[in-house]
Amino acid sequence: MNNTPSLSQALQERQHTIQRLFANPVRLLAPMEGLTDPLMRQILTQIASDLGRPYDWSVSEFIRVTQHVLPAHVFYKYVPELHHDAKTASGTPIHIQLLGSEAQLMAENAAYACELGAPAIDINFGCPAKTVNSHRGGSVLLDEPEVMYEIISAVRQAVPAHLPVSAKIRLGYTDTSRMDDIKAAIAASGADWLTIHARTKTQGYKPPAYWDKIQNFNTLDIPVIANGEIWKSEHAQNCMAQSGTTHLMLGRGAVTRPDLVAQLNTDSSKNLENTATLLWQDLITHQIKFLEGAAKSDVVLVGRYKQWLAMLTKGYSEAKTVWDDIKREKNKAVIIKALQASVA
Ligand SMILES: Cc1cc2nc3c(=O)[nH]c(=O)nc-3n(C[C@H](O)[C@H](O)[C@H](O)COP(=O)(O)O)c2cc1C
Repeated sequence: MNNTPSLSQALQERQHTIQRLFANPVRLLAPMEGLTDPLMRQILTQIASDLGRPYDWSVSEFIRVTQHVLPAHVFYKYVPELHHDAKTASGTPIHIQLLGSEAQLMAENAAYACELGAPAIDINFGCPAKTVNSHRGGSVLLDEPEVMYEIISAVRQAVPAHLPVSAKIRLGYTDTSRMDDIKAAIAASGADWLTIHARTKTQGYKPPAYWDKIQNFNTLDIPVIANGEIWKSEHAQNCMAQSGTTHLMLGRGAVTRPDLVAQLNTDSSKNLENTATLLWQDLITHQIKFLEGAAKSDVVLVGRYKQWLAMLTKGYSEAKTVWDDIKREKNKAVIIKALQASVA
């Protein structure tokens, strides 16, 4: 007897997965190269779970596809969660994001990532980096919707039919004039959902985010996830109202306030407000865990920690005091002591 699922069974399974994933508003932790790396993902997804509002999933930093099918160790380096059923310790699934411009090569890499255990593939059409864009990767492809279509549909065909394929875009490259073409390309490509960072490449990361523009994509018959400039609960409310979607991806706001995701869930009628808040003293152990995490070297780790602490100064007044104390400090143990002292 043949036990391999038929194509129609696999398609049905994918449909069920998507229905299950989007049955309620999703809250996602954004891919951020050099910021939400495996160590940071581990910590932020743990905090979210501990506060009772786990992220539905997170997306890996982009893995750049240039000339060949990447060896397994590259996928494991970016996504060590592949060793654990593609989930962080707190059980949050990690989808793999690929960035590249060659449809066939992207497809082969996507298929391999799935062989290694990726539960879903996301394709990056938002990266503004010059080196990436000059190789026709990332946001520059927003000016070539036909290439976007080729890439997504090739990946869709190569990835096992039961696994989802999604795309992450901005509103355009230099302006929003190609939005309708981008939408048509996404519709034809077979993407299972779409995440939109509500700015053009030219608008970079500067506020505001143009949440209302996301509405243009709501006529697609796939779920749309809104992203950009959500730093507090009120922004999330405005974003949902203006974009017309309840699905949200949190980026830098989730790093400056690791409890942001739980605060969005706050239902004042159930008096959840306090349980959703992570106080500075409760964040100390997580910061120490970060400083004790795996890294190439202590220098790298301390540098990364300072990047996080600088961001935390926007979310926590206490972080500013620690920052003033340790900004020139190189010794990890001294930084840990300063952190402990900040609550003594
Ligand atoms: C440091 C940094 C690195 C990023 N790396 C990626 C990436 O690898 N893949 C991606 O799709 N988006 C990447 N982004 C974009 C974010 O996923 C997100 O779309 C953007 O930050 C807007 O959301 P925010 O305003 O909530 O931060 C990155 C953003 C930042 C700040």
